[in-house]
Amino acid sequence: MAELTTPALRMTIRRFSTEAVLCSEMLAAGAVAAHAPHNAPLIQKLPGDDPFIYQLVGANPAVMARACGILEELGCFSIDINMGCAAPDILKTGAGAGLLANPDRAREVVRACRGAVKGALSVKMRSGFADSDGDRLVEFGRMLQGEGVDFITLHGRHAKLGFRRSADWGLVKLLHESLSIPVIGNGDITSAQIAASRLRESGCDAVMLGREGVKSPWIFALCERALGGDARPLTVDVCDVFLDTLRAIESLLPEKLHRSRGHRFAFYYSGNAHFSHELFTRIRKEISIDGMARAVAKYFDRNPGERVREFRVNTGDGS
Ligand SMILES: Cc1cc2nc3c(=O)[nH]c(=O)nc-3n(C[C@H](O)[C@H](O)[C@H](O)COP(=O)(O)O)c2cc1C
Repeated sequence: MAELTTPALRMTIRRFSTEAVLCSEMLAAGAVAAHAPHNAPLIQKLPGDDPFIYQLVGANPAVMARACGILEELGCFSIDINMGCAAPDILKTGAGAGLLANPDRAREVVRACRGAVKGALSVKMRSGFADSDGDRLVEFGRMLQGEGVDFITLHGRHAKLGFRRSADWGLVKLLHESLSIPVIGNGDITSAQIAASRLRESGCDAVMLGREGVKSPWIFALCERALGGDARPLTVDVCDVFLDTLRAIESLLPEKLHRSRGHRFAFYYSGNAHFSHELFTRIRKEISIDGMARAVAKYFDRNPGERVREFRVNTGDGS
């Protein structure tokens, strides 16, 4: 996820789960192919990152193929093609969700990438560009499967929706039942119980968590416990996780990225605080990690009862 799935957040998630498949930030194929120096911190992979997916965005088949080759050399679980991003600067190049509106170009991109990647190639997509039509979704999914894509992650909202309405898990079920390759469902999972229900109800092969994985990096451990019938509670020092992740941003990324990555992480993670708006407003005024960490420490000093939390999962029927 852009500006979120930094090496720092990934390190935090690994404290709670060694099994979750982690993902890079979205990488511009042009920058990867050109070996742009500013891209190096985004491409870096930590020893603990595996299993790890590199995600690429682009609409030029030759450039995408070159970037795939470079990333595959670094070793990964899969190279993922972004067909979901609806940011205006991405759409104007025809990339991201723009590929959903142009199946011929999408096919060319996938074909070129398939030719360049020996290992797994995947696609992360929305359910459509301007609407979610089940027949067209299945047709598009079959095209991807026919071109040799190994698995698809589906966010059940079309691109024009942004994050409005609820993700449509009926579309995840439909795509899963229509294809022979694995389909991973995504959208609006906010607890281990919901993850287990979505898996069961849609029959999909796995689930992907976005925003909740940033707000609650321990949710991956809770999901593993819920699925494994492990009812042990999980105790988390919410303040320590906040500070450790900010410090990791400081140590693992160049200074010019501290502000954007610190603020972006804090925007979601502050949701754990009772007075989240107040906390984030203070953090947003800070441009250095030191300043952000001071704001966090001060908040938890004033609200010590919010520091440690215990999480339990329902190991019953998962509903
Ligand atoms: C700030 C932000 C950045 C995102 N960046 C990416 C991205 O780079 N690549 C991608 O495939 N999806 C990206 N997404 C979409 C998420 O992967 C996911 O599909 C979406 O948030 C729905 O899942 P969720 O409800 O679990 O968050 C992003 C979402 C957010 C909120």
